[in-house]
Amino acid sequence: MSHTVTQLIYLVASVLFILGLKWLSSPATAVKGNRISGVGMLIAIVVTLLDQAIVTYQVIIAGLVVGSALGLWMAKAVKMTSMPQMVALLNGLGGGASLLVGGAEFLRSELVNEQLPLDTSITMQLSLLIGAVTLTGSLVAWAKLQEVMTGKPIIYPGQKALNALMFLAVVGLSVYQVSVPESLLWPFYAVLVISLLLGVTLVIPIGGADMPVVISLLNSYSGIAAAMTGFVIRNEVLIIAGALVGSSGIILSQIMCKAMNRSLANVLFGAFGATGGGSTKTAEGLTVRQTSADDAAVQLAYAKSVIVVPGYGLAVAQAQHIVREMADLIEKKGGEVKYAIHPVAGRMPGHMNVLLAEANVPYDKLFDMDQINAEFERTDVCLVIGANDVVNPASRTDPGSPIYGMPILNADKAHSIIVLKRGMGAGFAGIENELFYNPKTAMLFGDAKGSLQKVVTELKAL
Ligand code: TAP
Repeated sequence: MSHTVTQLIYLVASVLFILGLKWLSSPATAVKGNRISGVGMLIAIVVTLLDQAIVTYQVIIAGLVVGSALGLWMAKAVKMTSMPQMVALLNGLGGGASLLVGGAEFLRSELVNEQLPLDTSITMQLSLLIGAVTLTGSLVAWAKLQEVMTGKPIIYPGQKALNALMFLAVVGLSVYQVSVPESLLWPFYAVLVISLLLGVTLVIPIGGADMPVVISLLNSYSGIAAAMTGFVIRNEVLIIAGALVGSSGIILSQIMCKAMNRSLANVLFGAFGATGGGSTKTAEGLTVRQTSADDAAVQLAYAKSVIVVPGYGLAVAQAQHIVREMADLIEKKGGEVKYAIHPVAGRMPGHMNVLLAEANVPYDKLFDMDQINAEFERTDVCLVIGANDVVNPASRTDPGSPIYGMPILNADKAHSIIVLKRGMGAGFAGIENELFYNPKTAMLFGDAKGSLQKVVTELKAL
């Protein structure tokens, strides 16, 4: 195949990636976006295979079969709530792949005594460094989320200084490696080992609850490492795909930080959760009003307007299908049901959208925070299902709170509020929520799925 044809087909694949990303940004077009990106990737792989005979086709086919089978099994077996861990693992493997390609290219040049051009040397060092940090950093992120190791920040004296020292050491060694005329093995191995260590030491001080942001950042790193590898092996589609992953990952990290009202630096270096935040508010002296599924059903049956606020607990309980059933019953009785989606509800971007889409909740019933916040004060019942931090008024009133300043859904402005959760457990930020003690609020304790099941049975009987 001629070089020009290959380049043209790579261009087509890249356009498909970009279109896919664009469509992925809306739930209505996300499935189409995913498919079109997949087609782009298939084209890119086929052309690369046809274009270059790197290893034998038997090896490639064996790799494809094993990889696809593993991928299919993982995608089917993974629980929705474990998705962040899986993404972490996949990012890590992406970083590891870049590390291997970059490393192999270095060792090959060393073996045949080839003098690499300066740009190849620089990008190779970068693919080694970033790939190694991504690999071990992602494995630590996975271990924290999977609770294989403690999710709490691990901190020790001189941690930041040690990390800075290690970073300076890899930069220094990399500069030395590219500036000396011959390729040296010892700086290569030193960069490799220190970068692998750096991945671990950079991620251990970050609390498990901040892992989604870290994973998104590591996803960005895996893209940058891939783009660097693309320069090393002169593969344009790898450079473009890597750059797309790199930039979208960093944008997503920023969006998440903004929605939590934290800076990226605070997430990475703040050891959030190590001290439990500066909030002094406790629930002492406050009382909670409880309700039953029967009473909640009666209230919902006569409500003209209902806003459902889903949160992490909805995902844990897997209550999305029963929510949909409840909403259908309320609508049959003449009420209107809308869903208010907070940008960081749950534990990963778009978590609530994905869950509700799974239960076929129509997209036009899902509203972003800015679209719906003004509506709460005109709403009869706000049904908070497994959400906590995203409706915590402390973000407006308590400057000592770790979520102070975070934009929240105005659930407390509704005429009445029903909160479904198992007990008085805190959310991700680990703090009290005044909403639960609000005189307008009634708590329906229990697993969200079980509680909703009872509400649905009552609604059917009414
Ligand atoms: P959270 O504040 O984490 O609260 C979830 C609540 O669900 C808990 O208080 C828990 O209370 C309840 N729950 C757990 N299992 C349940 C079950 N089976 N049935 C009923 N309730 C259950 O959730 P949220 O309001 O969605 O807020 C998300 C938080 O995660 C935010 O602080 C956000 O900053 C953070 N975060 C999100 C992201 C993304 S990208 N989404 C990324 C990083 C951090 P009980 O134990 O009493 O049941």
